[in-house]
Amino acid sequence: MLNYSKIGVIGAGNVGAAIVNALVLRNIGKEIVLFNRDKNKAVAEAMDIDDTIPLLSEMKIKATNKYEDISDCNVIAITVGARQKEGETRLELLGRNTKITKEIITKLDKFAPNAVLIMVSNPVDILTRVAQETSSRDKKKIFGSGTVLDTSRLRYQVGKELNVNRKNVHIHVVGEHGDSEFAVWSNAIIGSIKLKNFPLPKNLELKEMKEKTMQIVKKRAYEIIQRKGYTNFGVAIAVAKLIQCVIRDEKKIFSVSVGANEEYNLEKGTVLSLPCVIGSLGIEHRLRLSLNKKEKVQLLTASKSLDEAYKKIKP
Ligand code: 2OP
Repeated sequence: MLNYSKIGVIGAGNVGAAIVNALVLRNIGKEIVLFNRDKNKAVAEAMDIDDTIPLLSEMKIKATNKYEDISDCNVIAITVGARQKEGETRLELLGRNTKITKEIITKLDKFAPNAVLIMVSNPVDILTRVAQETSSRDKKKIFGSGTVLDTSRLRYQVGKELNVNRKNVHIHVVGEHGDSEFAVWSNAIIGSIKLKNFPLPKNLELKEMKEKTMQIVKKRAYEIIQRKGYTNFGVAIAVAKLIQCVIRDEKKIFSVSVGANEEYNLEKGTVLSLPCVIGSLGIEHRLRLSLNKKEKVQLLTASKSLDEAYKKIKP
């Protein structure tokens, strides 16, 4: 565990502000630096969240538009960039968000070369790859929030269908944080029982349950965006949990955006979401999933689609 944990959040938009709020609510870290190009916006969000501190635990929030202020942060979440418009896919954001990612990573390499970086802006898998290619820091120190949120969404839905606590639902959504993502059903465990052996509630068919829950997960962000224009609270908690894992060296397993393992035989260099052990060094281990035939094809499809999109923007 780090003795003094200073956390940076780049971007004071809906997601950045919600991450700061989640960190304060969950008492994660000692000091947060909220960076925004328009300092006024960062100041306003910091003031609003500051007002809750006397009712919660001690925490310091600094609003800034100077990179110098994030220089000694242990971990930094990057949330800047355009967000999806109604009906737009995450991949369609790529062109707009690549340039800004490169600029920010270059600055962070200068001012916070040792920090662990967590990419949050979409399309998160590809922007993590852009960040890793741009940065000179160890690739283990740059990962993306990936399918942490999608996994949480799926655990919730499956728990509801099976009528068990979602914390006992062990399953990962992997691949792209986006339309080609999929659940690794072949590895799913409920408590310590394989999903395929788990006693299902009356009238519930396993195949239909899988299709139904995954459909909900895939459409979730679109549904929320259609109604309120953006998503923020879900991803904020996912990122706060990742930050906590780094600063407390928890070594928990999350599906985050990482360089794909060679053993999977994917396009070289692809970054997509796979389960990893997260600790103070960032990615401590990448875990190797044993996938069935269908899942191998799904992973390859996700990898191809992400690789193609990346190659289009690569100068
Ligand atoms: C989400 O899944 C839009 O990526 C964001 O909530």
